Amino acid sequence: MNKKALITGITGQDGSYLTEILLDKGYTVHGIIRRSSSFNTGRIDHLYNNQEIYGKRLFLHYGDLVDTSNLNRLLEKIEPDEIYNLAAQSHVKVSFEIPDYTAQVDALGTLRFLDAIREVGLKQVKFYQASTSELYGKAQDIPQTEKTPFYPRSPYGVAKLYGYWIIVNYREAYNLFACNGILFNHESPRRGETFVSRKITRAASRIALGIDEKLILGNLNAKRDWGYAPEYCEGMRMILQHPIPEDFVMATGETHTVREFAELTFGELGINLEWDGKDERERGIIKEIVKTKYDIKNKKLKQGVCVIEVDGRYYRPTEVDLLIGDYTKAKNLLGWEPKVKFDELIKIMIESDYEKVLKRGF
Ligand code: NAP
Ligand code: GDD
Repeated sequence: MNKKALITGITGQDGSYLTEILLDKGYTVHGIIRRSSSFNTGRIDHLYNNQEIYGKRLFLHYGDLVDTSNLNRLLEKIEPDEIYNLAAQSHVKVSFEIPDYTAQVDALGTLRFLDAIREVGLKQVKFYQASTSELYGKAQDIPQTEKTPFYPRSPYGVAKLYGYWIIVNYREAYNLFACNGILFNHESPRRGETFVSRKITRAASRIALGIDEKLILGNLNAKRDWGYAPEYCEGMRMILQHPIPEDFVMATGETHTVREFAELTFGELGINLEWDGKDERERGIIKEIVKTKYDIKNKKLKQGVCVIEVDGRYYRPTEVDLLIGDYTKAKNLLGWEPKVKFDELIKIMIESDYEKVLKRGF
């Protein structure tokens, strides 16, 4: 019999890729979506509008991680073999503004789900928890592994830390097949526009095409280990196929600053930058424009023009300065390894955003 998966956060970046992967493997997929005043299914519309799939092997249900009785009902009705808990208030900066809600969803939401599994009596179900490299926060080791102590630096990180430990506790206390994927940053053309990678690739495209003049960023010195989301979503599935429930780091093993991300992105379009000033006075200025496959339609762009500025309003009260992951365990036990590294990731994202902006004009 084909497996049945239940995905929370199916409308998000990872949820959409994971759905495609599981459908490809022959799963039936049930997804939980939130009621929204505007369309929130853009990332899965191609599946939702496919009559071969929707209503046959893909089903969507309204729900929310803050609604316990809803989770109970859905589990009773669907009886999934595998659950992927990807739903979260996932923005670190926003978590400083809405810490209570972030904890309700990211920490207690995980507990509600685990408890609903016990109440409904789904003894055989396998549970994947979207854990995060934000747990390492003020990193205690370089690189970070499954054994590195945690030191979260935001309400988001702290809420996810609760999620991490409640998974470990339910695994040990009730023998539940529950695993944490400690995933480092992973990006794609489907990444939300307010995360820094997508903010940069989208803005660079808009600047090149003459829609925007400048990109305003926060901390350019932060270093992240950025990978390609579809590969990490395949990793989630692999974690649940491993015979023993365990926690795994998934990362690329490379780290780069936000400044490097911006420099490479503009460079991909043929806009080579140099930097001037420090901290909030730092600016990215055009050094030269060179020919690439992308057409720079904005004729105002020339040597000396400033295209990047820093604004302290994007700084976080406490920052995570450096993340770099060691994925040896995932490689050895699961055979998981990332193929797309930093340069390639930027190429994929800029190609997509340039095309989108060119076609739609936004
Ligand atoms: P995302 O694009 O922000 O998607 C989050 C999803 O959660 C969306 O479908 C959202 O619904 C849903 N959601 C939010 N609050 C909810 C609630 N109260 N009840 C039900 N659903 C809710 O995030 P992502 O990048 O795909 O990340 C997926 C998961 O992995 C998240 O848990 C994130 O914290 C974690 N993670 C991400 C990364 C990364 O680099 N991407 C790294 C480590 C861990 P709407 O579409 O309606 O907003
Ligand atoms: N969002 C944003 N916007 N970040 C900026 C900006 C800006 O204008 N300027 C600089 N940054 C810096 C942030 O301060 C941070 O150090 C870094 O860029 C990355 O920020 P985000 O892209 O927002 O991602 P994140 O690392 O905070 O969190 C993402 O990755 C985590 C895994 O490590 C999210 O996907 C989390 O959900 C995920 O757990």
